[in-house]
Amino acid sequence: MKAMLIEEYGREYAFAESDIAVPEPGPGQVLVRVAGSSLNPIDNKIATMGSALAFSPDLPAVLGMDVSGTVEGVGPGVTRLALGDRVFGCPGGVRGLPGALAEFMVGDERLLARAPRCMDLTDAGAMPLVAVTAWLALFDKAGLKTGERLLVQGGAGGVGHLAVQLGVHAGAEVFATVSSPDKASVVEALGGTPIDYTTASVDDYVDEHTAGRGFDAVFDTVGGPVLDASFKAARMGGRVVSTNTRSSHDLGPLHAKSLSLHVVFMLLPLITGRGRERIGEILDQVAALTDADELAVLLDERRFDFRDIASAHRYWESGRALGKIGVSVSA
Ligand SMILES: NC(=O)c1ccc[n+]([C@@H]2O[C@H](COP(=O)([O-])OP(=O)(O)OC[C@H]3O[C@@H](n4cnc5c(N)ncnc54)[C@H](OP(=O)(O)O)[C@@H]3O)[C@@H](O)[C@H]2O)c1
Repeated sequence: MKAMLIEEYGREYAFAESDIAVPEPGPGQVLVRVAGSSLNPIDNKIATMGSALAFSPDLPAVLGMDVSGTVEGVGPGVTRLALGDRVFGCPGGVRGLPGALAEFMVGDERLLARAPRCMDLTDAGAMPLVAVTAWLALFDKAGLKTGERLLVQGGAGGVGHLAVQLGVHAGAEVFATVSSPDKASVVEALGGTPIDYTTASVDDYVDEHTAGRGFDAVFDTVGGPVLDASFKAARMGGRVVSTNTRSSHDLGPLHAKSLSLHVVFMLLPLITGRGRERIGEILDQVAALTDADELAVLLDERRFDFRDIASAHRYWESGRALGKIGVSVSA
């Protein structure tokens, strides 16, 4: 089969098309004929930082965490999925688990689910990682409830725009920070209230949208100073969840308001092998909500063929994308 192998880590994006053997599904695994994938920031971090990240694969490697496609083989003991199923998920792209930038990949069936019936199969490859991350943050970590006020930092980003929709679905009043009118329109169209973080201070928007009280839950998809801003924006006793906490912070504000801080690291089940069932369960619910027209993934107008994955990385680096950068994988 054709695969795009990364041969060296770094900003040169040294991917090369290669012929490699079609993998055999092992126990609990399925063989997926790949239709789609997407570019997630973590794919870029692995491609550029390489061995500085403990979970980066040894070279040469097949990257690509998101996948959609059709099941063309099943290993021993597979029970959730069957030959011919249209599936999506995030079963690879880290050390020891080859990813989706190839015509076929094998994946643990617990990290996959049947794809939304209403979606084009290639498009479905842009949804799993961001949807699972947003779900883990809002429900498994923050325990978001109907009627609560939720603030999403980075509300038009990949994870953020799924979080806005899941928050609205949960019956929360959703607010989301953005930096441009385009992104504000995205948040509004999804049922949230945009906040331009380039003009409004945290105090301004806490006053305007919560009468100075603070948000019940804050989901930070950015990290760094935005995590500190999230502590500031949360109400007394509120919950803050972040996807980016490899950094040092003053926890004084957390103490002063008796906040709880939660971290999402959705790759852990891939890396450790533990807790994988939860990923499949969430994907099942994501697919059902998508088919019920309550969830959708926003795709940037540019999509890249997997043979042109280096250009997809460069486009992501440019910061010009609005929504997810889709990748199509076709024989
Ligand atoms: N830990 C995990 O399990 C996990 C899972 C998924 C993702 N992540 C990480 O989470 C981050 C977001 O992922 P993604 O896929 O959503 O990336 P993305 O699509 O690039 O979105 C990031 C968003 O952050 C916004 N942003 C940047 N600076 C901001 C600021 N100062 N205030 C508010 N918003 C700001 C950007 O919007 P503007 O252009 O409007 O600034 C952009 O929309 C990445 O670092 C990724 O690696 C972690």
